[in-house]
Amino acid sequence: MPLTTRRADNSDAELLHDLAARTFGLACPPGTLVSDVEAYVARNLSREAFVGYLADPGRVLLTVSSSGVPIGYSMLVSGPITDPVVAAVVDEKSIELSKFYVDPGWHGAGAAAELMTATLAEAAATGADSCWLGVNQQNVRAARFYAKQGFEVVGVRRFQVGDVWHDDHVRSRRLP
Ligand SMILES: CC(C)(COP(=O)(O)OP(=O)(O)OC[C@H]1O[C@@H](n2cnc3c(N)ncnc32)[C@H](O)[C@@H]1OP(=O)(O)O)[C@@H](O)C(=O)NCCC(=O)NCCS
Repeated sequence: MPLTTRRADNSDAELLHDLAARTFGLACPPGTLVSDVEAYVARNLSREAFVGYLADPGRVLLTVSSSGVPIGYSMLVSGPITDPVVAAVVDEKSIELSKFYVDPGWHGAGAAAELMTATLAEAAATGADSCWLGVNQQNVRAARFYAKQGFEVVGVRRFQVGDVWHDDHVRSRRLP
């Protein structure tokens, strides 16, 4: 199946919300309450939230599709790092890879690598020196993937879903 990537535009809010609603829970550790996942999606990954992200000049959103069907998305966020714990371990000219999700039916199929290549090219085009992300410490599949993509663990942070604080690794890699 031909894989294609492209920048998302203002007409993509619904499809991004659909992808996010299907995939956000996959990145949470076992035991995370479904109600907490749903509340997080409703608050941060709704259609309206994506309308705002797409209108924000500091963000770049991309999709990966198979034969024209969207199967994954990513979101880069520029600007000052607001979390002091992250700012202490990440270069100030770093750009955040805030979202990186592929539909589970497409894991292990090369779609994530395709999306990462396009995402890192967009990240480099912003003038950033490096790219950083936070990923749950129990998410071994993502850890392996990010390590393959050159992201090294540089620190830890905490990330809240519902009332529960989760332990993330902060990973970073240089950009070309
Ligand atoms: C993270 C994600 C984008 C990676 O895409 P992918 O297609 O699964 O990645 P790949 O298959 O190329 O790489 C995953 C690696 O983990 C390995 N792996 C899979 N399950 C594993 C497990 N339970 N323990 C250890 N390694 C595991 C795979 O074998 C593969 O390694 P290999 O290429 O050396 O064999 C995708 O899994 C995803 O969307 N996950 C859900 C959302 C998510 O967690 N996003 C990250 C949020 S920060």
